Amino acid sequence: MQVFEALAAACEELTRNSVVNPRVDAEILLARSLGTTRSALLAHYRDAVDESSRQVFFSRVRERSRGKPLQYILGQQEFRGLLFEVSPAVFIPRPETEFVVEAALERLENGSVNLADVGTGSGCLAVSLAVVLPRAKLWATDLSEPALEIARRNAARHGVGSRISFLQGNLLQPVASWLGEGQLDAVVSNPPYVGPDELSGLQKEVRDWEPRLALVGDEGAPSLYARLVSQAHVRLRPGGLLIVEIGYSMQEAVCGLLGHGWELLGVAEDLNGIPRVVSARRV
Ligand SMILES: C[S@@+](CC[C@H](N)C(=O)[O-])C[C@H]1O[C@@H](n2cnc3c(N)ncnc32)[C@H](O)[C@@H]1O
Repeated sequence: MQVFEALAAACEELTRNSVVNPRVDAEILLARSLGTTRSALLAHYRDAVDESSRQVFFSRVRERSRGKPLQYILGQQEFRGLLFEVSPAVFIPRPETEFVVEAALERLENGSVNLADVGTGSGCLAVSLAVVLPRAKLWATDLSEPALEIARRNAARHGVGSRISFLQGNLLQPVASWLGEGQLDAVVSNPPYVGPDELSGLQKEVRDWEPRLALVGDEGAPSLYARLVSQAHVRLRPGGLLIVEIGYSMQEAVCGLLGHGWELLGVAEDLNGIPRVVSARRV
């Protein structure tokens, strides 16, 4: 079987199973199965695909046809130019979450700051900040131990493992054993914010494959954001930053939590013009 024949057969199977970008996905999966790049693959259209690569390729095509996200099949996702290991144990980092990092970097000094990342998942926020801020120390929490294992590997992969403590527990609670009150310079978070009633409206591959704890959490977004805001107020120093990602139409509710004791700094929109990242300062 030649490259173009393998691609055509895969495309047909992916199309039959309603995969949205069948051609692109087939090319990415074949390139990975052959240990080459997509552009090199396309330059060698008539090369033969050896038997073992062919088997690996079509087993990946079958996984994709069942709706498994490409990132989980490949085991990685890029975030701010860095590659992160992902598996179904963690939420796949999204481009809109990069705005959380941008909002933090806009206002943080490049000094020895103490930062917390709440609900770290793959560790994409904590690791990205640690890479850009070489003197920062970070505490990253998650309820999910399997997620923390992946986050630790991602930190090691990017050479920042010694500056990030990955802690299992609820919101900022685990940080209390490490730091006294008022000692954090910033808290960043992309918490679970999908309502249980919104779950059925999500894309099938998100709903069926990404961790429910990452999507809806275990208590509902209104209560989770309220607890996060009040815990952050205790842990941040005066002037410290709280930067949180929010879901569609949550701006009013979340900004409403930032009354007494906070100065609202702004709400950044994502590339679709949706209010996505709320930044506030503890007064
Ligand atoms: C939407 S994911 C975000 C993951 C990562 N920060 C990102 O942006 O890709 C939310 C994460 O919060 C974790 N989580 C849910 N409820 C939590 C809680 N009460 N305390 C700590 N982490 C929680 C989930 O396990 C999940 O890893």
